[in-house]
Amino acid sequence: MGSASIVSAAARRLLGKVALITGGASGFGECTARLFSRHGAKVLIADIKDDLGESVCKDIGSSSSSANGCSYVHCDVTKEKEIENAVNTAVSQYGKLDIMFNNAGIVDEAKHNILDNDQAEFERVLSVNLVGVFLGTKHAARVMKPAGRGSIISTASVCGVNGGVASHAYTSSKHGVVGLMKNAAVEL
Ligand SMILES: NC(=O)c1ccc[n+]([C@@H]2O[C@H](COP(=O)([O-])OP(=O)(O)OC[C@H]3O[C@@H](n4cnc5c(N)ncnc54)[C@H](O)[C@@H]3O)[C@@H](O)[C@H]2O)c1
Repeated sequence: MGSASIVSAAARRLLGKVALITGGASGFGECTARLFSRHGAKVLIADIKDDLGESVCKDIGSSSSSANGCSYVHCDVTKEKEIENAVNTAVSQYGKLDIMFNNAGIVDEAKHNILDNDQAEFERVLSVNLVGVFLGTKHAARVMKPAGRGSIISTASVCGVNGGVASHAYTSSKHGVVGLMKNAAVEL
């Protein structure tokens, strides 16, 4: 099989699918939004960087074969109402939700001496990296369970399995993501 036919076969893999990507305005999320779109998915980017998210979307939309192939919704993943709204927007705009990508995440400064770590900073990282994934999973499940199908993907890290690479908060949050996904997989 030549490379052109490999690409065209792969390009059909997400045709007709609807994907919601948190943290989709930059980095891994943006790359994924572009890749999913190239593979035929309708993509809803959810982020707090509105200008960036809108411009990524516009760029994806202009190269997408279908109209409204990408849209943007403001969503702070630490706020349940905003996650709920993002999921509802995917359904109202595109009719369903096939793929939830819980990708939004932050890093903090690694202060290796635990005595230098403060509670507020620890909770800030946990709030985005773990509570955000919990809320995304919960609201995706809310619409996927009745539909009887769907894929929930969450970005962890090498810090989800190893210690000593990043801050205590970041490592805890990513171990939490792995644990949450295992538990959610058993249930869902
Ligand atoms: N870059 C790496 O080397 C690396 C390695 C392993 C895992 N990760 C993980 O990959 C994911 C993406 O990271 P990245 O490197 O692409 O970073 P990035 O900073 O480029 O992208 C993260 C995106 O998340 C958004 N975001 C931050 N807080 C948010 C919130 N409260 N609500 C909604 N969106 C929010 C940001 O605005 C940004 O667009 C993160 O979960 C990160 O922990 C990154």
